[in-house]
Amino acid sequence: MIESMGNLRRTHMCGDLRVGNLNEEIILMGWVQKKRNLGGLIFVDLRDTTGITQIVFDNEVSKEAFEKADKIKGEFVIAIKGKVYERQSKNDDLATGDIEVFAEELKILDKAETPPIYIKDDDDVSETMRLKYRYLDLRKAFMQNNLKTRHKTLKVVRNFLDNENFVDVETPMLTKPTPEGARDYLVPSRVNPGKFYALPQSPQLMKQMLMVSGMDRYYQVVKCFRDEDLRANRQPEFTQIDIEMSFVDIDDILEMNERLVYKIFKEVKDIEIELPIKRMTYKEAMERFGSDKPDLRFGFELKDLTEIVKDSEFKVFSGNIANGGEVRGINIKGYEKEFSRKGISKLEKYVKNYGAKGLAWIKITEEGISSPITKFLSEEETNNIIDKLDGEKGDLLLIVADKPSVVFASLGHLRIEVAKKLNLIDDSLYELVWITEFPLFEYDEEEDRYVAKHHPFTHPMDEDIKLLDTEPEKVRAKAYDLAINGDEIGGGSIRINNTQLQQKMFKALGFSEEEAWSKFGFLLEAFKYGVPPHGGIAYGFDRLIMQLTESNNIRDVIAFPKTQNATSLLTKAPAEVSKEQLDELQIKLNLKK
Ligand code: AMO
Ligand code: AMP
Repeated sequence: MIESMGNLRRTHMCGDLRVGNLNEEIILMGWVQKKRNLGGLIFVDLRDTTGITQIVFDNEVSKEAFEKADKIKGEFVIAIKGKVYERQSKNDDLATGDIEVFAEELKILDKAETPPIYIKDDDDVSETMRLKYRYLDLRKAFMQNNLKTRHKTLKVVRNFLDNENFVDVETPMLTKPTPEGARDYLVPSRVNPGKFYALPQSPQLMKQMLMVSGMDRYYQVVKCFRDEDLRANRQPEFTQIDIEMSFVDIDDILEMNERLVYKIFKEVKDIEIELPIKRMTYKEAMERFGSDKPDLRFGFELKDLTEIVKDSEFKVFSGNIANGGEVRGINIKGYEKEFSRKGISKLEKYVKNYGAKGLAWIKITEEGISSPITKFLSEEETNNIIDKLDGEKGDLLLIVADKPSVVFASLGHLRIEVAKKLNLIDDSLYELVWITEFPLFEYDEEEDRYVAKHHPFTHPMDEDIKLLDTEPEKVRAKAYDLAINGDEIGGGSIRINNTQLQQKMFKALGFSEEEAWSKFGFLLEAFKYGVPPHGGIAYGFDRLIMQLTESNNIRDVIAFPKTQNATSLLTKAPAEVSKEQLDELQIKLNLKK
């Protein structure tokens, strides 16, 4: 039954044909999407990467083709030769819906078993099945389009950076630990028993070294590896567009990147984003949106109520404040009626995921105020809270008291959760914002010391350098992130290029001279020989493609992604290795039961 192509060579793709092609003799090849047998006529939807064409097998046109067509099934690979006709009943859902092809010749190039998943976009099969049969899942039009958007975006990026004199330089995958701070993926060295390479979490140190080398402008589209807890926008191996530039300060980098991002949106989406891209300091982003990657497509901004309730009889508020906490709230303006008591207790449950101990609320209804907390507040306190949150009839005020990190995290996530519940997020909008002036350090409670928020080579803001020894928590960094619609799409910084300042930085991080040299000695050695001022950025390329394709899941923009457990359901990686392989590496497993 299976034949070779013989002398058939395709003339068109399955998405090509229009009324302009009427009466042409054409040859198409592809997969059988669907077959219907209506007695004397067999209709086949033929699919390739460009689309679908309706093929008609008519007993009167070719008895041989008709009889063969009777044997084909879904996902058979076929070639047809035939003539293009105008369709009687047009199909507006198909680009080729005005025509159909009457087949004169059919070759079955390969058979197919009934596939375990349907090849259609709205097939709501489990993701496990999709990942196991990824090659079939990738036959779906939306997955093909996602990969094409990825390709197209990359082309725009490469062209743009090439025009701006950036040079693409590859850096090693078998390397030493890099400073991003996630867990490393390690690779044992056979020829150096007991020693391991680390896969790069980013090319950070290499790209800085390239600046020392005088490369001036570097970029790379590069795989990075991080062993961290996976989420909807995180993969253990992901792709960065990594960029570094010499003789620049913050504005030079942001300005160049704005033109890049503009170009991407223009060429890939035909959207003209507004330049310059908004800038917001980290402090403002946290205070207004409870997040360093704020979603600016809707309101529900945080307001600080701490001053108003610091002496309140209501100990949930005043007690938290006395312990260094804060009280902040958001106003769900006009949606009081959408939230019953039960609805609010769901929100309370939600904020508890972020460490909140409760969620206080005030409803301003037609009948007056309804709230479980106003009985503990003075009338003045209640009125001031309502004023501060701009409360009016129809509003629901939601309030959290806790330490600042918990207040920000819970209200920051809550405003998004509520906006989603109320369907208030306009998917066609793109809100871009630079977040600037990040703190240089953050306190690591587990390690009981300051750690670098970005990485240890990040340059402090010039005016804050004097605080390094005395009040490190107040030092702001020359670091910036690009957030799009609430996702962190990229981040970078100006780097330290002065040995003395670098030593101060290590000291503040609690690294001894020795530790610093054992970790990053090769960079510190390089830094003895003339370092240009430099800085850069890295985009999470997969996350950028998620935005451009409106995907909610990073796995939908990666051809062969990993599961939440960092496994591949397709290849079954990671896998056990043979005893011989382990012996060669002189490694003995010591697995916990
Ligand atoms: P950073 O660690 O912020 O910076 O990473 C840059 C961007 O990479 C993306 N990203 C990820 N995407 C998918 N899965 C992951 N596990 C993941 N982790 C990070 C994010 C992030 O903004 N060397 C510095 C950059 C620099 O300073 O130039 C760095 O790697 O979108
Ligand atoms: P309680 O006195 O514990 O019954 O709390 C009264 C109200 O305050 C309830 O609606 C709780 O959800 C709310 N609440 C409790 N702890 C907090 C907190 N840390 N922040 C905001 N509201 C809280």
